[in-house]
Amino acid sequence: MTDGDLLQDRRQYVADSENRFVEELCELLRIPSISTRAEHAADVARAARWIAEKMRRAGLEAVEVITKEGQCPLVYGEWLGAGPQAPTVLFYCHYDVQPAFLADGWRSDPFQPVIRDGKLYARGAVDSKSHVMIQLHAVEAALAKGALPINVKYLFEGEEESSGAHILSFVREQPQKLHADYAVASDGSMPDRGQPALVYALRGIVSCELRVQGPARDLHSGHYGGNVHNPAQALCEILAQLHDENSTVTVPGFYDQVIELGETERAELAQALPWIEREWHEVTEAPQAWGESDYNLHERTGARPTLEINGIAGGYAEEGFKTVLPAQAIAKISCRLVARQEPAQILRLLADHIARLTPPTVTSELRSAGYGEPAVVLELGTAVMEAALTAYERAWGKKPLLLREGGSIPIVASFERELGLPMALMPFGYKGCGAHGPNEHVYLDMVQKGIHTMLHFYDELARQHAAAV
Ligand code: BES
Ligand code: ZN
Repeated sequence: MTDGDLLQDRRQYVADSENRFVEELCELLRIPSISTRAEHAADVARAARWIAEKMRRAGLEAVEVITKEGQCPLVYGEWLGAGPQAPTVLFYCHYDVQPAFLADGWRSDPFQPVIRDGKLYARGAVDSKSHVMIQLHAVEAALAKGALPINVKYLFEGEEESSGAHILSFVREQPQKLHADYAVASDGSMPDRGQPALVYALRGIVSCELRVQGPARDLHSGHYGGNVHNPAQALCEILAQLHDENSTVTVPGFYDQVIELGETERAELAQALPWIEREWHEVTEAPQAWGESDYNLHERTGARPTLEINGIAGGYAEEGFKTVLPAQAIAKISCRLVARQEPAQILRLLADHIARLTPPTVTSELRSAGYGEPAVVLELGTAVMEAALTAYERAWGKKPLLLREGGSIPIVASFERELGLPMALMPFGYKGCGAHGPNEHVYLDMVQKGIHTMLHFYDELARQHAAAV
């Protein structure tokens, strides 16, 4: 049988299994594996067991649900039948999701998947359970129709959206179990549904909570309004000083470790700009773009750090009215990081700056909110990156764009740091699919293309690796 026949066989298997593949994705989507809320710990564990069972049925071996007290399980599976000459690839996905409530504006229950116009709606559809299933269905198809040309290891995480603590310690403590030649993280989205795009850079992230305290307790705003500094107002005054009129972050030292893009890279990134601008308008529907005027939209999210207020709370904002002068107000803040910016150092700089901005009429406290990971820029031209580029081109019939992404996948930096693996990021979502928001969905044709991309990737990587050794 020729390589072409084999590929054809696998494609036929995928076509014949289409309905079952969608139904299996729906089954996983029905499990509310929300890692950011403790009351869903049992659901996260159930999703892990479901995936382990699916891995076994797909033909993977040494399948294991790796548990650790107080943390979400990892799921591991491997197939090493290609032999020691063939390369080994470590695949990463996450199966946990962000919270979702019908009241957030969902048209249907976020954990009861429904298909409308070729789109499958459910929390986790694009971020990132479709990626989990693309990986498992592709390897199932390959193993069902002859052997794989590469060895594969899968490590799926259940707390990417919260702390990432379990996988970070696992990678540090058990590097030998994850020994491989290459790594692939399959997650994320592209700016266009028909134009494939490969991501080579992710921003890092650090997050914190700012608490501003005024009086010891909530007060009557008639009695004390005018002589007690309202903490909600003080918080807004502090927050308003964190950016200047050019949308630049005012924290001293914030940009010290930022590396400016070279002219060549700027020119390359500009190639993807028309797609990114179109997507910006389509997805955001905001009246006008905002940000640093010296950088275009792609550069602002891909290569510049930011400080974002993710939420503000204080006082009474429910139905009706309460003439209260609140005792405290809080803001959740995160910074997206680039280049050599160190999460812990950025947090220190921000804490110092906020301490200086805090007026004597209130007190403030800035606390870390748990995660902190630096940015990553993957090396281009490696066998794994070349194989990914070719695989997308074959499956989508178009040369992929190369992008810098604004989002973060905390484990990617540590794969590079701890395991030293050349890596590729393989996203199959579309940015307009509502990740983290209401009515999250995934395009079923993109899922299908994702499976085909992976089938091409296995063959292509075996070839690229052989050529590189
Ligand atoms: N899938 C995203 C990350 C992502 C987004 C990658 C866009 C590539 C393109 C991931 O699930 C995510 O949302 N990560 C969080 C990490 C945070 C909670 C530590 C993020 O970026 O906000
Ligand atoms: Zn996410």
